[in-house]
Amino acid sequence: MKGGGGGDIVIGHYASLTGSTAVFGISADEGARLAVDELNGSGGVLGRKIKLVTEDTQSKPEEAVTAVQKLINQDKVVAMLGEIASNRSLAAAPICQKAKIPMLSPASTNPKVTKVGNYIFRACFIDTFQGPVMADFAMKSVNGPHARKLAVFYDVKNDYSLGLREVFIARVKELGGEIVADESFGEGDVDFRAQLNKIKATNPDAIWVPGYYQEVALIAGQARQLGITVPLLGGDGWDADSLAKSSAGGIDGCFFSNHYASDDKSPAVQKFISTYKAKYNGKLPDAMAILGYDSMLLMADAIKRAGNTDGKAVRDALAKTKDFAGAAGNITIDKDRNAQKPIVVLRVVAKKVGDNFEQKFQYVETVTP
Ligand code: PHE
Repeated sequence: MKGGGGGDIVIGHYASLTGSTAVFGISADEGARLAVDELNGSGGVLGRKIKLVTEDTQSKPEEAVTAVQKLINQDKVVAMLGEIASNRSLAAAPICQKAKIPMLSPASTNPKVTKVGNYIFRACFIDTFQGPVMADFAMKSVNGPHARKLAVFYDVKNDYSLGLREVFIARVKELGGEIVADESFGEGDVDFRAQLNKIKATNPDAIWVPGYYQEVALIAGQARQLGITVPLLGGDGWDADSLAKSSAGGIDGCFFSNHYASDDKSPAVQKFISTYKAKYNGKLPDAMAILGYDSMLLMADAIKRAGNTDGKAVRDALAKTKDFAGAAGNITIDKDRNAQKPIVVLRVVAKKVGDNFEQKFQYVETVTP
């Protein structure tokens, strides 16, 4: 039998441990490993220990393909966790689908990911929800900037960003708002001033920047240098503890949507935070960490419900997931293999303290589907 017969249950995790979005993979893996500790500490699953094998995708889609091929062919994993970034999940999902290895992405939000096939699942909301929520926040929320004129600044090389650009614009128009600028950049860019100057000339009330944290921080820093004072708005891809520093504080007062708020008082969230901090030297977990944790627990739960590690049986069990109590909220898998979960909007607070920048994500509001 795959996965070592009566030995350990081997589960794969492909994750960006290095490269431009290393925060995503490192956090997700830390969360998943905390879950493995807890599972094995209480006797494992089906009387067997869980063994999590992680392969680095280097933040590149083509390396995600290599990683899942190795995990499936060499390590003989029975199930797969990963990736965080939608473009890497999209690259690797067809291989899992073909091999009938159930894949659970902790946090890829692009709608196309789970459409790859019936073995592909996610533990989070999708961008056709996330984008409109932030358009509503920009234009309608009492807590938001009450914008009418919106600028868009997106990553043309990134499926996630392209998807969020599109649904955001559609919602703004539906609400009677105006898109005054629609500019693009590419992952890895470091100078955004030409596009930011064009955006500035259109005098927007807010700027939608659906990107990943590295570019977003530079964009925020350069926007402030150019005298742009309106808030930048973004999605979950902003989540990283380096935003304040890499933007030289420019990110202060901006907003993004995410999967969890660390100041959420719910016992499940607070318990997760304290066990994570205890294992990882006091580090505050981000959304990828809590979703990595929940994904590992959900996969283990599905294997338990399946009663064995057969790919089809685990797939069927995952598909039947109902009200699974995750730390970041309950997970019910819908007919499209997505999870319907609330979104939190967070305000970034960045303060200069000596030569350093302190960063906090302050809870603003929750939007339920
Ligand atoms: N949702 C992002 C994507 O699909 C990944 C992400 C999730 C990034 C959570 C940060 C936090 O590409």
